[in-house]
Amino acid sequence: MLSVYDAIFARLAAEAGVNTLLVGDSVAMALYGFESTIHATVEMMASHVAAVRRACPSIFLVGDLPFGSYRRGVKDAMKAVETLARAGASAVKLEGVAGNEKIISHIIESGIPVMGHIGLTPQSVLALGGYKVQGGTEDAAARLIEDAKKLEDLGAFSLVLECVSRGLGSRISSRLSIPVIGIGAGADVDGQVLVASDLLGLSSGRLPRFVRKYMHGASLVSEAFEEFFREIDEAQYPSEAESYD
Ligand code: KIV
Repeated sequence: MLSVYDAIFARLAAEAGVNTLLVGDSVAMALYGFESTIHATVEMMASHVAAVRRACPSIFLVGDLPFGSYRRGVKDAMKAVETLARAGASAVKLEGVAGNEKIISHIIESGIPVMGHIGLTPQSVLALGGYKVQGGTEDAAARLIEDAKKLEDLGAFSLVLECVSRGLGSRISSRLSIPVIGIGAGADVDGQVLVASDLLGLSSGRLPRFVRKYMHGASLVSEAFEEFFREIDEAQYPSEAESYD
């Protein structure tokens, strides 16, 4: 699974054979420059879901329910789900389990598949005290195992497990029959997800150790921009062939 936000990367990911696309609320940080995902809104998510859907009409597309949109009661949560589904989401993802049980069941009963997200849940970064590995004590690990089981029992079709030890990733994955998609959860889970702009090396700042850069996109893009500006300065662009008679 790949987290993408726009038609260009969605199309390229589909052509490369991606299984599932996610429009993650990380869009608030990666594209809009916010400090955390707390700033994502339903309108922001719907606009990016729609862009990805236009590029990939038949892909399985998960849309993130943003912070706050599913904690104001079932009615508001369903409004957000409806907006994302009408924008083109095949399923929605939401973070955490405690307090979300009723909403998860209601969304599933309404006919929209739900993907869970546990471990490091970025929408709770203020309460978690930063972006840290989760489930480090036996108690915390047991709570995560319980949460994962609860999500499965509630009817979630899959879950994202973020930033836990490889051992805990393996324990959770082996206890569930639904697919566990890891991000920083080691190799012993059922699938992997990364944010496209991270793996392309386009993101700025320090990245978590689980991000492998498959290209150094930022320097490639900078070099291209510099060349464009230089060629304008040196009157090399546009050429005759790039001009109309
Ligand atoms: O927001 C996002 O892109 C995500 C993935 C990192 C799983 O939730």
